[in-house]
Amino acid sequence: MTTIERLSETELFENIFKPENRSDPYPFYRQLRRQPVSRIEDGRWVITRHRDIAQLLRDPRVGVSKPDPSDPRRQTIRKPDGSPFEGPFLNQDPPGHDELRAVVTDEFIPRVMTIRGHLEELVSAHLAPFVTGQAGELDVVNDLAYPLPVTVICELLGVPREDEAIFGDFARRLTRGLDPAETQTDEDLRELAIARGEMTAYCAGLFDFRRENPDDGLLCALMNRLDLFDLHATVQLLLIAGHETTVNLITNGTLTLMRNPSAMARLREDPDLAIPLVEEVLRYEPPVQMTTRRALADIDLGGVTITQGSRMFLMLAAGNRDETVFADPDRFVPDRESNPHLAYGGGVHYCVGATLARAEAQIALTALARRMRAPALVADPPPYRENAILRGPEHLPVAFERMS
Ligand code: HEM
Repeated sequence: MTTIERLSETELFENIFKPENRSDPYPFYRQLRRQPVSRIEDGRWVITRHRDIAQLLRDPRVGVSKPDPSDPRRQTIRKPDGSPFEGPFLNQDPPGHDELRAVVTDEFIPRVMTIRGHLEELVSAHLAPFVTGQAGELDVVNDLAYPLPVTVICELLGVPREDEAIFGDFARRLTRGLDPAETQTDEDLRELAIARGEMTAYCAGLFDFRRENPDDGLLCALMNRLDLFDLHATVQLLLIAGHETTVNLITNGTLTLMRNPSAMARLREDPDLAIPLVEEVLRYEPPVQMTTRRALADIDLGGVTITQGSRMFLMLAAGNRDETVFADPDRFVPDRESNPHLAYGGGVHYCVGATLARAEAQIALTALARRMRAPALVADPPPYRENAILRGPEHLPVAFERMS
């Protein structure tokens, strides 16, 4: 028996969160899949098989219900009409979720279509400082993957260009709020409350500005359809949900290409490969490794009963390497034919920004593959961010002989 085979389910789960395993948590997911519906010591359930995760994401007996109704730190905030404010729709169950989501998809999706054609220009602008005719080095995180999604969401919303840095800083600080409540310390919660307060104050000014200077951007459209509470929550959600996730997709994608030079060479010659290749990055190195749910009723699964009220971890990254769904799951296959990965979740909470994130990554990875001559990783593995759920490198320095 190898060391990993001797670990309990609780230990396997804990190992996924340890910083020393951040660059390769997949052996722990693989071992957990042998006991695909496991109950760890604190009573939470860990689900690792593709079929079970896909089913639970679509099961109306499964809810998000965040924050945890039994969390003593939970506070009810009331809107001026006395109704409770339930937070962003990612954290709500139907029907409240569905009403808000419908407003966003109505206004967001058509605008994503219009920005797609403009993405190449934005990527070129971020790479322009490196086109010097000489050898150089770029940090894929700081120089492209981090600023690009901020520029894109600011353009979609109609945030003035000079405020992009402020918006990017909010994204960084607020992302911690996406972690499970039990991993957050009181200090984290205080920091989050401060960041939320600052972003709310900033957005209030932005809303005033757009009321005086209306345009056809997403923000004005949302202002016309949502009350002030839901407006603040939705704008913050779009920024946070869409930022670090896309950063990780572009960075994980570049790292994977650097480790698979034949895939990089094929992408350089054939930009159409970007479509299946980005899906394979989403499967192989998913930017969101897991999500959480609560059983709203008793649920029978895999021969056990998950009792009402139990918390569940749906391990998207484990489902994405399920050998019963994906042939040779630990191999990166850039043109994999059938790829029903779980990277964007599923069911009522399926990612609103999937099309946008795909487009950003397809264009960014193609540009890097085509424009960098003789790229080489400066460190492998690169340093990773602390966060185990939104997982990706903190920096990804790449040296090149020339950028065109
Ligand atoms: C929901 C992943 C990019 C907006 C989700 C969920 C996942 C996900 C897994 C479901 C969470 C759950 O069920 O608990 C990703 C990944 C992205 C990405 C991997 C990039 C590669 C974006 C972008 C935006 C966005 C660019 C918008 C600008 C949202 C929103 C939700 C969501 C609003 C909530 C949907 C709902 O609750 O109905 N995303 N996302 N995402 N995502 Fe994304």
